[in-house]
Amino acid sequence: VNDSKKVFVKTFGCQMNVYDSERMLRLAESAGYLRAEDAESADLIIVNTCSVRDKPEHKAVSEIGWMHKRARAHEGVKLVLAGCVAQQLADSLLKSHPFIDLVLGTAAIGRLPGLLSRIESGERVVDCADSDADIGMPLADETTPGRSGPSAFVSIMRGCNNYCSYCIVPYVRGPEKSRAPGEILDEVRQFVDEGAREVTLLGQNVNSYGRGLEEAIDFTELLGRVHEIQGIERIRFTTSHPKDLSDRLVQAFADLPKLAGHMHLPVQSGADTVLKRMARIYTIDQYCEKAEKLRMAKPHMAISTDLIVGFCGETDREFQETMDLLDRIRYDSAFSFKYSPRPGTAAAKFDDDVPDAVKKERLAILQKRQEQITLERNLEQLGRTVSVLVEGPGRGGPDRRKGRSECHRIVHFNDGSANPGDLVAIRIDEAFQNALVGTPVKPLK
Ligand code: SAH
Ligand code: SF4
Ligand code: F3S
Repeated sequence: VNDSKKVFVKTFGCQMNVYDSERMLRLAESAGYLRAEDAESADLIIVNTCSVRDKPEHKAVSEIGWMHKRARAHEGVKLVLAGCVAQQLADSLLKSHPFIDLVLGTAAIGRLPGLLSRIESGERVVDCADSDADIGMPLADETTPGRSGPSAFVSIMRGCNNYCSYCIVPYVRGPEKSRAPGEILDEVRQFVDEGAREVTLLGQNVNSYGRGLEEAIDFTELLGRVHEIQGIERIRFTTSHPKDLSDRLVQAFADLPKLAGHMHLPVQSGADTVLKRMARIYTIDQYCEKAEKLRMAKPHMAISTDLIVGFCGETDREFQETMDLLDRIRYDSAFSFKYSPRPGTAAAKFDDDVPDAVKKERLAILQKRQEQITLERNLEQLGRTVSVLVEGPGRGGPDRRKGRSECHRIVHFNDGSANPGDLVAIRIDEAFQNALVGTPVKPLK
């Protein structure tokens, strides 16, 4: 085993990429590789890229260059560029970066073992064909089992059919395709066997799960089946398109106790006129009504969102409507971005007319307001007792532990007997902008 080759993956982008990276690691293991601690000790380096905004894309390309410099000292190391930038740029990447051995598209991951033997024998390959029927993890008997952390991701679908005008995802991830429920449930059970207590079901728009499957099943039904799996204590999912959030799903938050009280519901803009240009197909009133229903279905439900500022033609008035929305919904947290035109999207043909300085200014104003609201929301948790899934040690002493509440907040507390994967009840004593601090309220386990 000493002379086994080692693989290292560097991941950019969203949780789908985190999932795909784990999948590539397991596939490389099935081809005889061990996991490397760092890039320097690896024989195979995979950079899993994101192209949703321009910055991560630049990051990815410079990362590859940096890896290449490191790798030159290491005779025979192979470099793989995977993920959404790979899918987007395909052949041109192999031409422009002579040190890349393999360009691996997002729907070609399942073919990694075969492609590895080709690059090992000196070939340079591009595989960005959309013909990967299977999107799941390799089975346990093909890899070394027993390594999942307390929290696991399971992909339930791939691709996206929504074509929001600013978004590159449908072009780099292909059309939406749901995974068969049996496969999903098997994979959840596999992660439970490996130690997972929480599962996050992943898709670009999980609310449309089930379309095109032989079996008549929707996302709420799938949640019900995952809920029955022994050993799963907590279920999360991401992402939801507001237009497809059904009353049935809202009701699931009331009916399924393991379903965590947190919903990520990207709104993108607070102005109906901007939403229209973005092709989001809902109005702010419709959106707010759904948020309201969610909060009625489950007390203390946390709602988070994504926002884009400076989209094509965004006026001061329209931006102000986004600011008004922050105060109307009072999100528990929000990710916000400056609009960045993506090649091939519908909005790439619109005029990107909001100057960068204005985008920057709007982003700063928005983030400042949201930080205040997030802090206020966190302060509202004082005195509550929340269930926390322990992730591991925290900073500040041997008894310090860190975990996440049901509502997805980071919680620190002291209890040396708490192990990763334990669910503990913590009373919240202190609240900060990024985390809560509390005390265990009853004996653990
Ligand atoms: N499928 C998810 C998220 C996709 S990408 C959804 O529908 O919500 C994650 C976030 O990146 C988006 O919600 C959006 O806020 C942001 N984003 C996507 N394209 C962008 C672009 N061209 N410029 C800036 N932000 C963008
Ligand atoms: Fe992009 Fe819209 Fe699909 Fe989300 S729903 S991935 S924002 S096209
Ligand atoms: Fe990025 Fe691809 Fe995800 S573009 S956000 S890694 S689907």
